[in-house]
Amino acid sequence: MQNSSLSNKVAYITGGSKGIGLGTAKVLLELGMRVAISSRSLVSAQKAAEQLSADSTRILAIQSDVVNETDEFAAVESVVNKFGQLDVLVANAGVGHFAAIDELSSAQWKETIDINLTGVFNSVKASIDALKKSEGYIITIASLAGTNFFETASAYNASKFGLVGFTQAIMLDLRKYGIKVATIMPGSVSTNFNNHVPNDADAWKIQPEDIGELVADLLRMNPRTLPSKIEVRPARTSAK
Ligand SMILES: NC(=O)c1ccc[n+]([C@@H]2O[C@H](COP(=O)([O-])OP(=O)(O)OC[C@H]3O[C@@H](n4cnc5c(N)ncnc54)[C@H](OP(=O)(O)O)[C@@H]3O)[C@@H](O)[C@H]2O)c1
Repeated sequence: MQNSSLSNKVAYITGGSKGIGLGTAKVLLELGMRVAISSRSLVSAQKAAEQLSADSTRILAIQSDVVNETDEFAAVESVVNKFGQLDVLVANAGVGHFAAIDELSSAQWKETIDINLTGVFNSVKASIDALKKSEGYIITIASLAGTNFFETASAYNASKFGLVGFTQAIMLDLRKYGIKVATIMPGSVSTNFNNHVPNDADAWKIQPEDIGELVADLLRMNPRTLPSKIEVRPARTSAK
């Protein structure tokens, strides 16, 4: 991907109805890219798309549950049908259930692994053919929980440690096709994650658009260079 040509590029962001996905969509649209965002709910995806851009030639709202392989293949097909290509997959959709292992339910375990790990697998599988054509980019949104473990996070840690390993392995599989693969591992970001409501006290945290800027930095980087695993954290540990 060339530094100066982002305005011709098309991104598909899974889980773009709020949080990091929405913030990233905003930044990529500002750079002139065309962007598709997904949600489990068409209404939520459409509301977010309306908020992002009044230009329906540059934004696409998609209903897709990343857990459903058929949904994801249909989502990528609709992106290529509308925009003619796919250059960037941001595999962002994710959830967190936090409870000590004696309290964690099998439903919580399953949903966390299904969305955060198998969901990314589905999004990647659905995108590979289009990305081979464009020699595009896959960016997964993992977490510092993909390298640091903590109490109550067994399911989330397992999903994100797994996602970091998955992303690094496919980076090696796909670079022979000119597809670049990176994982971003954020610390605290001010989003709706785990039913949080963003508020003024979150000012010290990373903001969703900051992750979008990081995605843009990766896309703008000279294509011969690939930062494949990026840890990013708030510069302070709490409000000053
Ligand atoms: N916030 C943080 O501090 C933080 C830190 C590190 C990593 N992360 C990671 O960042 C990613 C985004 O989280 P966020 O913080 O932006 O949380 P968020 O505000 O809750 O947003 C999550 C997004 O994922 C979508 N989503 C969830 N399950 C989905 C599914 N099965 N299929 C399609 N979309 C789905 C949601 O859409 P709908 O609900 O509308 O379907 C929503 O758009 C996650 O992978 C999370 O693990 C977050």
